[in-house]
Amino acid sequence: MYNAQWQYFNPVSITSGAGTLDQLPTLVTGERWLLLTSAGFTRRGISSRLQSVLSPVQLNVHDQIQPNPDLDALDTLTGQLQQEKFQGIIALGGGSVLDAAKVLSVTLPCKMQTPLDSVLRQQQAYNWQDQLPLIVIPTTSGTGAEVTPFATVWDMSAHKKYSLTTPRIYPTKALLDPTLTLTLPYRETLYTGLDTLSHALESLWNRHRSSLSEAFAFESLLLANKALPAVLKHPDDLAMRGQMQQASLLAGLAISQTRTAIAHSISYPVTSHFGVPHGLACSFTLPRLLKQNLERMTNNPVHLQILRQTQTLLDSLDLLGELKKYLTLDQLLKHTDSMLTPDRAGNYPYSFDTQDFLHALTETELRK
Ligand SMILES: [Fe+2]
Repeated sequence: MYNAQWQYFNPVSITSGAGTLDQLPTLVTGERWLLLTSAGFTRRGISSRLQSVLSPVQLNVHDQIQPNPDLDALDTLTGQLQQEKFQGIIALGGGSVLDAAKVLSVTLPCKMQTPLDSVLRQQQAYNWQDQLPLIVIPTTSGTGAEVTPFATVWDMSAHKKYSLTTPRIYPTKALLDPTLTLTLPYRETLYTGLDTLSHALESLWNRHRSSLSEAFAFESLLLANKALPAVLKHPDDLAMRGQMQQASLLAGLAISQTRTAIAHSISYPVTSHFGVPHGLACSFTLPRLLKQNLERMTNNPVHLQILRQTQTLLDSLDLLGELKKYLTLDQLLKHTDSMLTPDRAGNYPYSFDTQDFLHALTETELRK
């Protein structure tokens, strides 16, 4: 059940639908902006198309953002780009590109030399004052990064994950065009779709659950239950791609209020030690978590029906089989001590024993 007391704040202006990128020339003004994207979009000619559409605004392209953005790499990039005096940033890509852009939107206008090292690693208190205008254009359906006030930053050498969290890194504008997700390969479609399911469920088994986050989450699950299997089967189905994009947005809105919980907490060592993609790392625990919690998550028959459909979908996807491609059972069990972080696991409202849970999960499934 949800809390009776809650507050809601989300300043992101959202425009959704095919062709929304046509709005860009009215949104991008001034002399010089930064386009953050991945190399694939430059290769496919999209970066240069945006440059010509936005002319005479000079659009500098940086297309070397790596998956799971690294703390030191982002500090180095901040140092390189600070003198360019950009008037805004456009982020076109998946969750890593969007998170990197959210970080740069507050580190570029700040005066520190290595802001992420100071604030995240050295834990220096800092009040992010300024933010560059940030337009985000997600090309995957899963992270919800377009509407959340946090960005994940990795220190892969120390196997650590940080979250830069401040209302200042909410994007200014999100443009959602489902046609951009049509070319997403099968595995990325699956993993990012799983991230959506994880966000919706994590906002439901959550101490900060409210009537509003609950409404977002159930609508997200309702859409994703149908759209995820459909886009995996028919990747060029624009209507279903659009529904999956909406599901991702709604789940993002839910966790923008509640944050994530136990499944994400468990996922971080799995990603930082074994390179397991985020969407898989934060979802291989979901079938068992959902089975354990289903009856106590709601007594609304419509909502119960939605959760049962999600359970059926998750059970059909063989997530532990996917996980076994990246690590062995014994490797997974070695990291149970670092899987419960207070800022995520603390949101989970029920008691939880990681050793017991993972042993039970792996005994029944991973040893098959
Ligand atoms: Fe996630």
